[in-house]
Amino acid sequence: MQTVISACNAEVLARARQLIEEDGVVAFHTETVYGLGANAFSDRAVQSIFALKGRPADNPLIVHVHPAYDISSLVDFVPPYTEKLRKAFLPGPLTMIYPSTHRVSAAVSCGLNTLAIRIPSSPTAQAFLEAVGLPVAAPSANRSKHVSPVTAMHVYDDFAGRIPLILDGGPCSGGIESTVLDCTGEIPQILRAGLVTREMIERTVGACGVYTMQKGEKPKSPGMAYKHYSPVCRTAYFQAQDVALAIALYREEERTGKPCFLADRATAEQLGGFRILDLGASGEEMARNLYARLRESETQATLLIAIEPKERGGVMEGVLNRLIRACGGKNAT
Ligand code: TXA
Ligand code: MG
Repeated sequence: MQTVISACNAEVLARARQLIEEDGVVAFHTETVYGLGANAFSDRAVQSIFALKGRPADNPLIVHVHPAYDISSLVDFVPPYTEKLRKAFLPGPLTMIYPSTHRVSAAVSCGLNTLAIRIPSSPTAQAFLEAVGLPVAAPSANRSKHVSPVTAMHVYDDFAGRIPLILDGGPCSGGIESTVLDCTGEIPQILRAGLVTREMIERTVGACGVYTMQKGEKPKSPGMAYKHYSPVCRTAYFQAQDVALAIALYREEERTGKPCFLADRATAEQLGGFRILDLGASGEEMARNLYARLRESETQATLLIAIEPKERGGVMEGVLNRLIRACGGKNAT
């Protein structure tokens, strides 16, 4: 199969619609990361996403809809605070989880009673969703456990010859996946940190919980239980105060391989003279750069040595969560 990469135009959108109607898949740009979409009403189409990605069968998908799509048939009870969140943040990088009416394929939510819905702001995503006129189930368009894609070429690198069409909207402006917010309780609860931050949600609705998985517990958001976002090269992770240890590891790797640091701007400047991938200075910049840098490391390094950025709060919760899970966790050396 030939994989076509194209920006949106009438002809390509008609092709995308046809593919979705025939239970095929289409990769598309969003403001967070690229998605791999299929008709959420079709068991066969949804199952093909799991097969293509090699995704564990218990990790549910997010359904994407156009802003004009009426979600009332898909979701059961909608708590009043969701209206405020919708007005403040949608369309945008916020996924809300509601009690499901089970109208979409059971494969979308992997048997859970809930449904995750996202209304992306990307013009490419909206043109695609408008053209197909259906809820589109879409995970990030990467092979399972690999780094999420933030350009059309990243999607191509993972799926060339296996999917027919990638709707190219350029590099993703957000750079990390949407905030996943459980809206089935009295107050909303963040299951996955992202670009809509806890602080932003608290300012809008007064209270917001953050879910942390307890040991031995079945995770509320199954995706968070898996190792994720990993580059194919080896990785190591150091706290900012352990730069000397990181340098020692770099020197050791240099003897047989090609080490590379991944660090925030301040640390990168301090480390002049080494091979370095610079994450950026602000939280927003680090979110935008993270996955592109992780993918670059795959071609440039045998060992990627991440040094924890110093900034905290806001978008950094999401950035750190991804970085730690990509590079092996806090205690990895
Ligand atoms: O920004 C994004 O959200 C991107 C773009 C393509 O929209 N999509 C994305 O999808 O990141 P994925 O499949 O890579 O991550 C979806 C996450 C997983 O952690 C999954 O477990 C969680 O959302 N999730 C989906 N439905 C859920 C549900 N009903 N209950 C709890 N967690 C759910
Ligand atoms: Mg993903």
